Amino acid sequence: MGFEIIGTGHFVPGTPIKNDDLRRVMDTSDEWIAQRSGIRQRHFVAEGQGASDLAAEASKLAIEAAGIDAKEIDYIVFATMTPEYIFPGSGALLGAKLGLAGVPALDIRQQCAAMLFGIQLVDGLIKSGAARTVLFVGAEAHAGFMPWDDWDILTGEREGEVTPEARERANAHRALAVLFGDGAGALIFRKTDRDAGLVAMKLHTDGNSAETIYVPGGGFRTRPYWKASMYAEQAYVPRMEGRDLFKFAVTRLPRTARELCKETGTPIDGIDWFLAHQANLRINAYIREQLGVPTEKMPMNIDRFGNTSAGTIPILIDENTRNGNLKKGELNMLLALGAGIHWGCALVRW
Ligand code: ACO
Repeated sequence: MGFEIIGTGHFVPGTPIKNDDLRRVMDTSDEWIAQRSGIRQRHFVAEGQGASDLAAEASKLAIEAAGIDAKEIDYIVFATMTPEYIFPGSGALLGAKLGLAGVPALDIRQQCAAMLFGIQLVDGLIKSGAARTVLFVGAEAHAGFMPWDDWDILTGEREGEVTPEARERANAHRALAVLFGDGAGALIFRKTDRDAGLVAMKLHTDGNSAETIYVPGGGFRTRPYWKASMYAEQAYVPRMEGRDLFKFAVTRLPRTARELCKETGTPIDGIDWFLAHQANLRINAYIREQLGVPTEKMPMNIDRFGNTSAGTIPILIDENTRNGNLKKGELNMLLALGAGIHWGCALVRW
């Protein structure tokens, strides 16, 4: 007894911003971005559009694909690091948008590793009998932490140059700013008697590295928790030690995957698909190399969406469900590492 994924959906906002478009607001190039990360374009929310708006669109598609009535959903798990409000969480907003007032909505914040923690949670909710049909959504609206203000110049709506000061402010964060994109992925999990669901997993958190990627401003250590000086210091832009994160990902994920395979007696070539977080094409290439996974077994979409944090793995699952790659009965591995730092691997029988 476990769960199966009965419906999937994803949604990304607006028209894509290509790498070369970013040159309107900062000094960068398509070559630098594509070579270092594999990213070619990303999407951004419009002003006023929030994570729960993207999530609602993705959820409607998942509900339609599942062929259920939304009212059959008896639990919502919402993962985002870019919520509309510090509180309440975006899960409540999503429930309201889907007409599910009264259905419990739980917000989790494991950033890029959210799907891994989410799947354990969903498994527990279903096995305990607390829920039968769970909507899990990962959605991000990263646009609000981008280090530029001239969105109309970025999108090409207004001709002109940003000021040298604005360009300099954006350049200070360019290694981070080119990586992230907005989007949402939704999965509907349902209790099943079939031999499907979570087989085994390994999860880890190490808060000693919390400041490898974090947002320095807008927290409750300061009074008030938001000050004008934080805008001046661009404290709303995450600070990232890119090289350290890269090393964490290429060492910890293969190690955790090997441990999980060893403990469960699963050979790497007995796994059908490796559904990995998309932070950097090179990170995933290293992981494949170290585990001996053929390229075609690890689908990628970072070129089109960038890193959509909690949205990434659900979006990847939706794409690979709709294109017929993921089939019932297959054994798949999910892998991710994100801010916290949180990381883990899961073996899931589809
Ligand atoms: N365009 C052009 N040049 C740039 C850019 C840019 N966008 N960004 C940085 N550079 C320059 C730097 O200024 C530097 O120049 P210098 O040598 O003259 O000083 C040079 O390029 C190298 O910069 P690094 O930051 O050292 O580049 P690196 O090779 O480390 O690549 C990258 C950076 C792509 C960010 C990489 O470190 C990475 O992908 N790390 C992992 C990040 C990650 O996984 N983040 C997501 C997880 S977080 C989550 O859970 C939310």
